[in-house]
Amino acid sequence: MDVALKIWRYDAVSGEKALREYEVDAPEWVTLLDVLDLIKDKVDGTLAYRKSCRMMICGSCGMRMDGAAVLACKTRMYEIAQSGHVPVISAMGNLPIVKDLVVDMEPFWGKIHAVKPYLDPGYVDPGEKEYVVSQEQVDVIHKESLCIMCGCCVSECNSMEADPDFLGPAALAKGMRFVGDARDRATTERLQSYSEEHGIWDCTRCYFCQERCPKGVDPRDAIAKLGAEAMSHGIDHDMGAKHAKWFVTSAKTTGWLRETELVPKTQGVVSSIKEMGFAMNLLRRGKVPPPVPPHVAKDVGEARALYDIVKTQGRDGADGIVQVEKPLMHLEFDNAEERDPYGEGSFPPPKPIPGEGEVAQ
Ligand code: SF4
Ligand code: SF4
Ligand code: FES
Repeated sequence: MDVALKIWRYDAVSGEKALREYEVDAPEWVTLLDVLDLIKDKVDGTLAYRKSCRMMICGSCGMRMDGAAVLACKTRMYEIAQSGHVPVISAMGNLPIVKDLVVDMEPFWGKIHAVKPYLDPGYVDPGEKEYVVSQEQVDVIHKESLCIMCGCCVSECNSMEADPDFLGPAALAKGMRFVGDARDRATTERLQSYSEEHGIWDCTRCYFCQERCPKGVDPRDAIAKLGAEAMSHGIDHDMGAKHAKWFVTSAKTTGWLRETELVPKTQGVVSSIKEMGFAMNLLRRGKVPPPVPPHVAKDVGEARALYDIVKTQGRDGADGIVQVEKPLMHLEFDNAEERDPYGEGSFPPPKPIPGEGEVAQ
C-alpha cells in the first residue's frame, strides 16, 4: 500500500524548518516507525528520529502525530493510509528539539532525578532473609511501575507548558511508584518535597497525560494519589491542598461548593482582604451567594454518604482507581459509559491487520 506522511523537519543549529511530504510503498502491517525507517532507507537518509526496541518497551520513539503524542512503534498505519489521510508528524512538545523528531530529554531526566527515583529502604542490608512484598502491596503501584519513560505525557502537559519547572506527570508518577512501595521509608520526606512549589498541586487536572500515555500508567491518577497521601500525612500547607480540602468540607457539610468562603480558606484572611473590592463587585452583580445561612442541598445525605465511603478506602482507593476513568473513556470511546476501564478491550487495541482479525495487545 502507499503510505504518505508530512514531517516537520527542523535543524536546531541553523534554525531551518520545513514541512516535507514523503510517500513510500509499504506492507499493510507497518507501524509509523516502520514507515519512518522506509523513508530513511529509501528516500531521505538525513531524517532524524529515535528508536530502539520496536516493541513498545524502550520508550525511545515518542513523537507527535497530528498534534498528539504517540509511540511510533505502537501506531499502525493501515487504516490511516486506507482513509487517504496524510498525518503530520512532529517532535514531542515541552522538550527542546535537537533535529527533526529528536528532542533533548535532559529536562525530562532532570525532573525524574528530582523525585529521587530509587528505593530508600531504611536499611543497608535486608539481613539473612529476603524482604517479601505481597501481591496486594505490589498492586498499589502496579500502574505506576509500567512507565517506560517515553515522555508522551510530558509532551502534552498543559501545566508544564505554562511552567517549565513543574515536575510533570512522568516524574510525579515515578514519585508515586516509590511513595506506594511497601519497602520505602522516605515517604514523608518525599511527600514534603513533591508538595513544594512546581509539585503535585500545580497540576491543572487537564488529563492529557492520562489520555496520551501509551502504557496505561495514568499519571494524573498517580498525582491524585500523591495528593491524598500528602493530606493523610498532614502535609497540606500548599494553597492547592487547602483549596482541595475546602471542596471536601463543602461537599460534606452542604453538598454544595461554599464559594464565598473558598478564598479565605485557600489564601488566608490577609489575601482575602486585598480581594475585597473584587468580591464586592461580584456581590453587587449577584455572583456571590450569601454565606449565611449556608445553602444546604436537599439531598446532602448523598454527598455525606459518598464522603463516608471514600474515607473507608485505603491508599489503593477503589482498587487503585482513584478517579478519571470516566473522562478517559469519554476521550477514547463515545458510548462507553458502562465499559469496565480495566476489563477486556478497555484500551484501544492495535488496528487489525486485514485478514487476521484483531491483533492481541
Ligand atoms: S493532568 Fe496535570 S500532569 Fe497531567 S497533563 Fe494535565 S496538567 Fe499535566
Ligand atoms: S507515564 Fe506513560 S507517557 Fe509518561 S513517560 Fe511513563 S509511559 Fe510515557
Ligand atoms: S522503539 Fe522502543 S518504544 Fe518504540
